[in-house]
Amino acid sequence: RVVAVIMVGGPTKGTRFRPLSFNVPKPLFPLAGQPMVHHPISACKRIPNLAQIYLIGFYEEREFALYVSSISNELKVPVRYLKEDRPHGSAGGLYHFRDLIMEDDPSHIFLLNCDVCCSFPLPQMLDAHKRYGGMGTILVVKVSAESASEFGELVADPTTNELLHYTEKPETFVSDRINCGVYIFTPDIFTAIEGVSTQRKDRANLRRVSSFEAMQPDPRTLPANYVRLDQDILSPLAGKKQLYIYETNDFWEQIKTPGMSIKCSSLYLAQFRHTSPHLLANGNGIKKASITGDVYIHPSAKVHPSAKIGPSVSISANARIGAGARLKHCIILDDVEIKENAVVSHAIVGWKSSIGLWARVQANYNAKLGVTILGESVTVEDEVVVFNSIVLPHKTLNVGVQDEILL
Ligand code: GDD
Repeated sequence: RVVAVIMVGGPTKGTRFRPLSFNVPKPLFPLAGQPMVHHPISACKRIPNLAQIYLIGFYEEREFALYVSSISNELKVPVRYLKEDRPHGSAGGLYHFRDLIMEDDPSHIFLLNCDVCCSFPLPQMLDAHKRYGGMGTILVVKVSAESASEFGELVADPTTNELLHYTEKPETFVSDRINCGVYIFTPDIFTAIEGVSTQRKDRANLRRVSSFEAMQPDPRTLPANYVRLDQDILSPLAGKKQLYIYETNDFWEQIKTPGMSIKCSSLYLAQFRHTSPHLLANGNGIKKASITGDVYIHPSAKVHPSAKIGPSVSISANARIGAGARLKHCIILDDVEIKENAVVSHAIVGWKSSIGLWARVQANYNAKLGVTILGESVTVEDEVVVFNSIVLPHKTLNVGVQDEILL
């Protein structure tokens, strides 16, 4: 039997995702019309003998209650949210719930970061992991040398795939092969995490007896049960024949900023062509408007037949799109109204916002920000142009803005 764990983090982790994380925990922000965490969860469905999916985080339980019960029914696999009383780190959080996770007596445990967008080749990883015979296998992708330092960089043996060296976000270049934040482990991972906490406790006790150090606490020391998977487990275990890599050539992106959500939404929409064509507006036979490329339209949304939609558009529940409106590369959230002949491109339009007649909400996707974001209940009045800007909730714009953050 196999268990999957998805690390969802908590409210303090999502700050770069503002203003969109004001309304909904980042893991539930919709990409391609489905909550972010829905994509790894539905990938888990392809794992043979999957017994349980756990989401571990420090958001309030009630924020996930509705989603977790509806997805459990839909997938016919139990999905449970487990709340940490405080952050324990990416490995410490897993360890905190070890007894519960081991109740199903799993032979393997998948561990997935919720803020990555990829094809999640989980069955292939499981097969490779069994062949390697180690404690863990890490999904790896090649990225550009310039961007590699934002991630965990690693070196592996080209023939055996053993992980030889691992450095988290290094200052000097190590490798363009990086950690995707998708892992499979045997239950021995718990012993490895326990080892790190025990070491920390011992060191803390040593410090307590030395009065000099007690007066000058070391800011680098972490609480014993705060364990990071990357620095505390992967780095020290590299080169010890316990960790291996599985390299993917499919798409992979990290979702830290709202701007990345448009890119990832579009990658998932493209994936729907193979995995869920019924979710695509051009694949389900209901032609609500003139559609180009991959588009998701929630069944409750009302789109005028003369609107032009796509490519890469997702329209959430109860949105209303007026006659002659033009939408491309955008995410339209619940209850938004887009009036006649308005244009939305490279933008995220927040819940209950309204865009006036002939208004334009756009961005230059080559610019640094590359996206326009309207928070909840923003009103863009008729004929107003909003370009490359972030607008915080409840603002009314009656004059044009460009390259601004409106607080
Ligand atoms: N439940 C819980 N509790 N989740 C946590 C905690 C915690 O205390 N701390 C982090 N997480 C979750 C985050 O929500 C995220 O899904 C994942 O664990 C990793 O988060 P970070 O530890 O903040 O690392 P990162 O996202 O900057 O980088 C990691 O992922 C990259 C891939 O996206 C590293 O492992 C990198 O090496 C890797 O390239």
